Amino acid sequence: MLSYQHIYHAGNMADIHKHLWLITVLDYLNKKDKPYCWLDTHSGRGLYDLSSKEANKTEEYKSGIDRFYSSLIADNDLPHQLQLYRQIIENLQGNSEHKINTYPGSAYISAKIIRNADRFYGFDLHKQEFSHLKEALASFKNAKIEQKSGYDGLKALFPPQQRRGGVLIDPSYEIKDEYEQCAKAIIKAYKKWPQGVYMIWYPIMTQGYHSNLLEPLKALNLEAEDLLTDEWHFDGLYHNMIGSGMAIINPPYSSEKTMKSVRKHVSNLLK
Ligand SMILES: C[S@@+](CC[C@H](N)C(=O)[O-])C[C@H]1O[C@@H](n2cnc3c(N)ncnc32)[C@H](O)[C@@H]1O
Repeated sequence: MLSYQHIYHAGNMADIHKHLWLITVLDYLNKKDKPYCWLDTHSGRGLYDLSSKEANKTEEYKSGIDRFYSSLIADNDLPHQLQLYRQIIENLQGNSEHKINTYPGSAYISAKIIRNADRFYGFDLHKQEFSHLKEALASFKNAKIEQKSGYDGLKALFPPQQRRGGVLIDPSYEIKDEYEQCAKAIIKAYKKWPQGVYMIWYPIMTQGYHSNLLEPLKALNLEAEDLLTDEWHFDGLYHNMIGSGMAIINPPYSSEKTMKSVRKHVSNLLK
């Protein structure tokens, strides 16, 4: 029985890290005319209501997007990736120049950024999350969603017909062996399709569980530029989660450098 609901965490610093990486990768894929296929194995609900009682129980968004939303809107000198992020957020229903009420999740962001000829496939196992997701993505004709395990979706769809694209894997890590399970699913998919971009988000907990995900990926012995990890640390903000990690197999050229400058800009907005 699944109990995790992302609404309690939506818009926190880990979401910002993950979603800015997602935008950076999709924006890069959009640079070539050739259509691509993008998967989101753990889609969540697509759009998150920050005025809900769940979001306000934890108030994680308050130390995340809420803290720099007004300066993000007012900034006329944003790097391109942050401009895209801002455009997506400011056009959502309920958001105004001064107040953010709705935060976009990975599935909504992806559906918004891909082009008409590209394809998006999203998955969520949770009945309630899936029904929100359906509503959030209803107007996107090239987005297909299914209420089933994203790991099964990955197995069924990779390699995709388009032979271009990749996947975001953003599990809830409710059970401790999900780190190993996730690594196994990625390695299987990678062996079938070594050209895809594989983005895997992981929490950095005080217990260090994430090494169970990273060690098997490192054992693939990829060239240094074909497996990168990027970690943002935020001690003391979210109980025993002390940071947010993103591992990427086949990261787009120069994406690490781009994200470094995006990170710097975010830090300035947070000051
Ligand atoms: C961390 S949340 C996803 C957040 C989302 N990616 C975003 O950025 O908005 C994880 C989601 O995975 C769902 N889930 C858990 N196990 C799953 C599985 N095996 N396949 C698909 N979805 C799953 C949960 O219901 C939850 O909505």
